[in-house]
Amino acid sequence: MKNFFVLTLFPEMIQETLSHSILGRAQREGFVSIEAINIREFSNNKHLQVDDYPYGGGAGMVMQPQPIYDAYQSIVPRAGKARVLYMTPQGKPFTQCMAKKLAQEENLVFLCGHYEGVDERVIEEIVTDEVSLGDFVLTGGELAAITMIDAISRLMPGVLGKEASFEEESFSEGLLEYPQYTRPPIFMEREVPPILLSGHHGNIEKWRREQSLLRTASKRPDLLKKAELSKKDLETLQKNDIEP
Ligand code: ADE
Repeated sequence: MKNFFVLTLFPEMIQETLSHSILGRAQREGFVSIEAINIREFSNNKHLQVDDYPYGGGAGMVMQPQPIYDAYQSIVPRAGKARVLYMTPQGKPFTQCMAKKLAQEENLVFLCGHYEGVDERVIEEIVTDEVSLGDFVLTGGELAAITMIDAISRLMPGVLGKEASFEEESFSEGLLEYPQYTRPPIFMEREVPPILLSGHHGNIEKWRREQSLLRTASKRPDLLKKAELSKKDLETLQKNDIEP
């Protein structure tokens, strides 16, 4: 069982988005628990204000440290010494490898910032890891936290019905996934590759591996450089005039 705690000004955004499909079922069946804590409820201000003007001037508002710190303290009895991930473009890029490592943790805390930022002192005080979804800027950390919770949860036992399905997929071995087809056998004059209808499992597996290699070479050559390749894989690439 994995417990996610999300410190946010928009708890509905977290709860609503993660209540559908696979993550909704995983929560209902008790494989994961996702709790959104509203930072505003910890404001000491009579207007429930949680942000203020930046010292030194400049545009936008900055989230004050006290409501965030108190919101964090309120979950410590349940989350213990869990890692606290702060969603920020300044963080370490999120990858499948990081998702696998985080999936080993029992409890995880996400801190979602808004406005122009968060007072640096509360980051220094409670955050253990700064994580980024990529080199672009979101309006807040919520979508980043939702994305990470989705990617981490699906690696946990019981969350995906079929246990095996994530072993073969994109990135698991550093390669992109082979193309998939279903009925009908011909769509807009395009045929399903005949080998997939042959029933010959050995040949199908070989073809799929080859497709993974060729796709990765053409769509993400940077991944191919880092992938673990067998002698057979190298032969396939050579046959197609591709340098690994
Ligand atoms: N918050 C704002 N932009 C972000 C990004 N790129 N990744 C994670 N959190 C963010």
